[in-house]
Amino acid sequence: MTTPLSAAELGIIAQSPYKQDFPLLAQHPELAFLDSAATAQRPAAVLYAQREFYETMNANPLRGLYRLSVEATQAIAQARTHVARFIGAVDDAGAPQGDAIVFTRNASEALNLLARTLPQLVELGPGDDVVISIMEHHSNLIPWQQVCAATGANLVYLRLNDDFSITQEEIEAKIGPNAKIVSVTHVSNVLGVENDVAAIAARAHEMGALCIADGAQSVPHVQVDVRALGCDFLAFSAHKLGGPLGIGVLWGKPELLDAMPPFLTGGEMIDSVTETGAVWSPVPQKFEAGTQDAAGSFATDACLGYLESLGMARIEERERLLASYLCERLQERDYITIVGPSDPRRHIGAVSFDVRSVHPHDVASILDMYNVCVRAGHHCAQPLLTYLGWHSTCRASVAFYNDKSDVDRLIDGLDQVWGIFNGSL
Ligand code: ALA
Repeated sequence: MTTPLSAAELGIIAQSPYKQDFPLLAQHPELAFLDSAATAQRPAAVLYAQREFYETMNANPLRGLYRLSVEATQAIAQARTHVARFIGAVDDAGAPQGDAIVFTRNASEALNLLARTLPQLVELGPGDDVVISIMEHHSNLIPWQQVCAATGANLVYLRLNDDFSITQEEIEAKIGPNAKIVSVTHVSNVLGVENDVAAIAARAHEMGALCIADGAQSVPHVQVDVRALGCDFLAFSAHKLGGPLGIGVLWGKPELLDAMPPFLTGGEMIDSVTETGAVWSPVPQKFEAGTQDAAGSFATDACLGYLESLGMARIEERERLLASYLCERLQERDYITIVGPSDPRRHIGAVSFDVRSVHPHDVASILDMYNVCVRAGHHCAQPLLTYLGWHSTCRASVAFYNDKSDVDRLIDGLDQVWGIFNGSL
């Protein structure tokens, strides 16, 4: 056990100066929104940007030669550069590699893009290994199951130590000379633990394999630097950062993106087409068939600007305190079991838990009556829950806009749940 939060730390999370930036939270002070791992709330800056795009520069990007279309195209290009800078995708001179950013609909689509294109690149086949971890979200699991079924490659799982970590021994045992693709989540959406992607990527590269990191639950909460992680690809979704729904990001090393075949085909991903074939556009357009969500890119750009104005280091510190406080309060109740590390400081964003003898769906539904929003179920990570011996759990997840009162209201709500099911209410 670690030491509880100090008075100074509790002071930092006592109130949220940020809720006023989020129209939904500002208009509904009765809500304790603790489901940001599913999707974050949107700051006004994002809502204004979305509206600004449609009011001032709405046109189909990349196609028109008139001012509006050029501005829409520029909005996407500017967003790419910003995203690249935000995740440390810079060249040796420090210039952001905007062209290494592919916009997709979400992290799932980015991971599917990789699962559909990398097997050709690495000539995956029988006898080869695709290595993932047992804590993957279905988005980073089912695509690889499909790939292995189609190619005859083996799907190998990195499993967990008693403290929910993936040990160096496990990394070395499972990522061997047959590994061709290694794809792991940076932070678990169920357990809240951070995986040592740098160690996993180093081992993958030592064995000649490519390494993908699923950053859906890390990019919103910690300062992600793809160069420090050492991975070849990173996927994440804008909506978990407070950006719009429907924008995902795939970052890849430029030489790999160049070598990969396209994923979806159609308009604007080609240089030229004949009756019998086509020549692909350069990256990133090669991977962006059809009309792109320029408004979403523009709003994502605004979202990153908002987060940077607060400072990702400050966001990370505040969220670690909130998650720690959440764990500490849950641990006070003997009818609650935390599904994940007992060390509160190892939780990034998410804390899963069980209320003894009460189905998680009942817990979440009753909490909703008290205006507390949590997720309940298998969290799109059924193999993990089965492996850990659970069918479903409740999950509370924090973002920087939460404060101590949100957690306190969850605990009060849980006491009500416990009282209802145990006859004391
Ligand atoms: N991936 C999201 C979650 O964990 C939807 O809730």
